[in-house]
Amino acid sequence: MARRVAVIGAGVSGLSSIKCCLDEDLEPTCFERSNDIGGLWKFTETSKDGMTRVYRSLVTNVCKEMSCYSDFPFQEDYPNYMNQGKFWDYLQEFVEHFDLLKYIRFRTTVCSVTKRPDFSETGQWDVVTETEGKRDRGVFDAVMVCTGHFLNPHLPLESFPGIHKFKGQILHSQEYKSPEGFQGKRVLVIGLGNTGGDVAVELSRTAAQVLLSTRTGAWVIHRCSNGGYPYNMVITRRYLNFMAQVLPSCVLNWIQERQMNKRLNHENYGLSITKGRKPKFIVNDELPICILCGTVTMKTSVKEFTETSAVFEDGTVEENLDVVIFTTGYTFSFPFLEEPLKSLCTKKIFLYKQVFPSNLERATLAIIGLISLKGSILSGTELQARWATRVFKEVELYIPSKGSYWNNADCE
Ligand SMILES: Cc1cc2nc3c(=O)[nH]c(=O)nc-3n(C[C@H](O)[C@H](O)[C@H](O)COP(=O)(O)OP(=O)(O)OC[C@H]3O[C@@H](n4cnc5c(N)ncnc54)[C@H](O)[C@@H]3O)c2cc1C
Ligand SMILES: NC(=O)c1ccc[n+]([C@@H]2O[C@H](COP(=O)([O-])OP(=O)(O)OC[C@H]3O[C@@H](n4cnc5c(N)ncnc54)[C@H](OP(=O)(O)O)[C@@H]3O)[C@@H](O)[C@H]2O)c1
Repeated sequence: MARRVAVIGAGVSGLSSIKCCLDEDLEPTCFERSNDIGGLWKFTETSKDGMTRVYRSLVTNVCKEMSCYSDFPFQEDYPNYMNQGKFWDYLQEFVEHFDLLKYIRFRTTVCSVTKRPDFSETGQWDVVTETEGKRDRGVFDAVMVCTGHFLNPHLPLESFPGIHKFKGQILHSQEYKSPEGFQGKRVLVIGLGNTGGDVAVELSRTAAQVLLSTRTGAWVIHRCSNGGYPYNMVITRRYLNFMAQVLPSCVLNWIQERQMNKRLNHENYGLSITKGRKPKFIVNDELPICILCGTVTMKTSVKEFTETSAVFEDGTVEENLDVVIFTTGYTFSFPFLEEPLKSLCTKKIFLYKQVFPSNLERATLAIIGLISLKGSILSGTELQARWATRVFKEVELYIPSKGSYWNNADCE
């Protein structure tokens, strides 16, 4: 039976993992490379440490009623959607309430996680860490990897001919903290995810002009839905889930399109989903107003850059650009794992239920939080952590040679 568990990262996923270890009488030690809890929810003024974090104006996109840990609701006086500071306060309260701080070693980076020579019998791992230049080694019965989905910026410069000639400022949204420094500038934002929408709207208040380029468009959801209720509360309904399961996808898409265009005809706003592309959703209350008022102009994808301008797929050209911000998302990796485990974990398909690498002789390593959900990630990571810790505890039951439990065909 596993006892000592190494938890890597003290963000949302790491905190629920520590708590679930304690619930199962396991002994967690959490290693966190930064000096605080909360992972990307810990706002800092700069991004010099290379960590992905929230920008100053960020507001949660799932309402509080649907985004707390199961045994720790938000306080009554917290708003339904809260800014990043309030959300971090909640995580801090969670840590204090369950007395989790004593299990976390801050400023400690996990450098390597390797199987011990007797792994096939013991399932144990060697974990090498570094704290302010000092290396340490520990043996753990199980490992929970909670290093997040958003480790490195995805900056696809090679997809943009001429970008190296461009003489203006180029940055990725990982570096974006606030609109200061963009006053009076002509800014091109590339990529319509939640970040792209937020950054475009925020800059539209101070920049001379904001252009927002999208390859695929997006359905834009408002935080405030029918009757003024938070949209997650309105759409999270058993009958809607039931319909999603029984109706053919073409009918579902047709209903969805009608619903989404009822409030906002996306085509008129340059937001409609490109034919053949998978629909995606963003949460943004102000983007349509900004487009209506001309402070944000929607553009198609960029064909090429010149020294000062961008040429778009529809043939239009925007001259005198000062800044290009790539809001093109993030990638993840597990630099501390050895091959072939490292590559297998990076391809989610090889993770049983997106948690357990399916090729291990012993199920003593779990990836927590590598999920994209319609709702909040808190409940998802909590369920994953609860399951993983129970498997660790009863790990003998899950040896692949003793059953068909580890069937790759079951992987999601
Ligand atoms: C800008 C932004 C806004 C978001 N808004 C929402 C939202 O409103 N609602 C929602 O549900 N989700 C949101 N998300 C999704 C987000 O994934 C989750 O909210 C959540 O923060 C993820 O937590 P995590 O613990 O998995 O990862 P992270 O918060 O990234 O934490 C990972 C931790 O691991 C540590 N770490 C990494 N490598 C090592 C190492 N080698 N050694 C030691 N420590 C290490 C890092 O320092 C970090 O503290 C947002 C994501 C982003 C990027
Ligand atoms: N709480 C909040 O409100 C909030 C705010 C920000 C972020 N978030 C969360 O943070 C996470 C990351 O969001 P994100 O918006 O940074 O990233 P994202 O969701 O991955 O979106 C990145 C976008 O960049 C574009 N893109 C990607 N590769 C490209 C390429 N090669 N060329 C051109 N465009 C490319 C795509 O948009 P196109 O298809 O339009 O080209 C894509 O949708 C998500 O989970 C999101 O929900 C939440």
